[in-house]
Amino acid sequence: MSLSPAATVRPARSLRGRLEVPGDKSIAHRYALFAALAHGPSLLHNFAPGADCRSTLNCLRRLGVSIEEGPAGTVSLLGRGLGQLRSPAGPLDAGNSGTTMRLLSGVLAGHPFSSTLVGDASLSRRPMRRVIDPLERMGARLEAVDGHPPLTVHGARLNGIAYQSPTPSAQVKSAVLLAGLHAEGVTSVTETASTRDHTERALTAFGGASAVEGLTVSVAGGQQLVGRTLTVPGDFSSAAFWLVAAAALPGSRVEIEAVGLNPTRSALLGVLRRFGARVHVETAADENGEPRGTVLVEGDRAEAIVITPEEVPGLIDELPAIAALAAHGGEVTVRGAGELRVKESDRISALVAGFRALGIDADERDDGFVIRGRSGERPKGGVADARGDHRMAMAFAIAALAAEGPSTIDGAEAVDISYPGFFETLERLVS
Ligand code: S3P
Repeated sequence: MSLSPAATVRPARSLRGRLEVPGDKSIAHRYALFAALAHGPSLLHNFAPGADCRSTLNCLRRLGVSIEEGPAGTVSLLGRGLGQLRSPAGPLDAGNSGTTMRLLSGVLAGHPFSSTLVGDASLSRRPMRRVIDPLERMGARLEAVDGHPPLTVHGARLNGIAYQSPTPSAQVKSAVLLAGLHAEGVTSVTETASTRDHTERALTAFGGASAVEGLTVSVAGGQQLVGRTLTVPGDFSSAAFWLVAAAALPGSRVEIEAVGLNPTRSALLGVLRRFGARVHVETAADENGEPRGTVLVEGDRAEAIVITPEEVPGLIDELPAIAALAAHGGEVTVRGAGELRVKESDRISALVAGFRALGIDADERDDGFVIRGRSGERPKGGVADARGDHRMAMAFAIAALAAEGPSTIDGAEAVDISYPGFFETLERLVS
């Protein structure tokens, strides 16, 4: 389906409905990668439909993995075995996806050929030194342009390392662990704060193992993985936009089923309770190591919220949605989130500019922002630019529900990266 580049969002009094959200992007990338490195066939259900995970599938195809996409998000892959990917004929295009580029760089570091990962204009601005440093310490050689893509990986025989990761980042941790599977001996990553653990859980699902001790995760090299049939849970970070909208608009009631509830991803639920929403969670039986269940949110009050630096790693992709809470009243302050500046856009600058364009009070800080809603007074609405960033487009859409009149989201088609159909679902929930 082709989406128009701008979307119009009309004000709403409340949101009501029950829905499922598309498959989790982070988990789908990992299932595809492990399926490629495993022996035998894998069948993945509810695979993430957005462009990011399609980039991972296309890169894997170029690396010799046979992949078929069936109806309703079913993907079957025939694994080649650890270290058995084929040298690609040309560059590997990661599109807009940092996860594709960083995780694949770890896999490619352990393969005996050279390959080049390229990306779109946004990805070409994002920092890659964070994966280059540890992968070079393991024995690979990587070339980039002043630390930015294109990223050429000259694979080699790797040795395990004990890596102290300076920035909490699941992408860096995962790149090193994936390289570690191809390395001699044990590889460990120690973080300064815990980050999403989907790689560790997916490794177990495919028959491998990791060991966790405090903030250190280790893997042994040479593990043999086996293909699996797995179902990807709904993406909590996509659900976040509806949960926030329901919390912000009193009288709303939104229920999301079969959504991922991994504790390293779901800290937003506590934030919504602090804001004053009624939040009800029902966890289903654990399926292949990724918790999932139903979340119900009903809007009530608008308390001021402060997000502290320690909370940031557990909320990193939900901060744009959290900002939208304050568009409807209350106040949101975020500190210690400088990492937002190196996402798909500079999310601090893009958020503040977009909120102001909608008539909402917003102030930029070096490492965060403050958004202030005015109680009893609706913002005017206006034209907000998503700057090509899917989460900006969705945050502005939720904020625009609070406005006096219709607003325009420029670059709305960016939602296709993680949530094709977002605007159609919005229309359904407000009607
Ligand atoms: C991701 C990790 C996070 C997150 C990104 C997905 C992952 O990035 O923001 O959307 O799937 O590992 P960082 O590792 O840069 O924090």
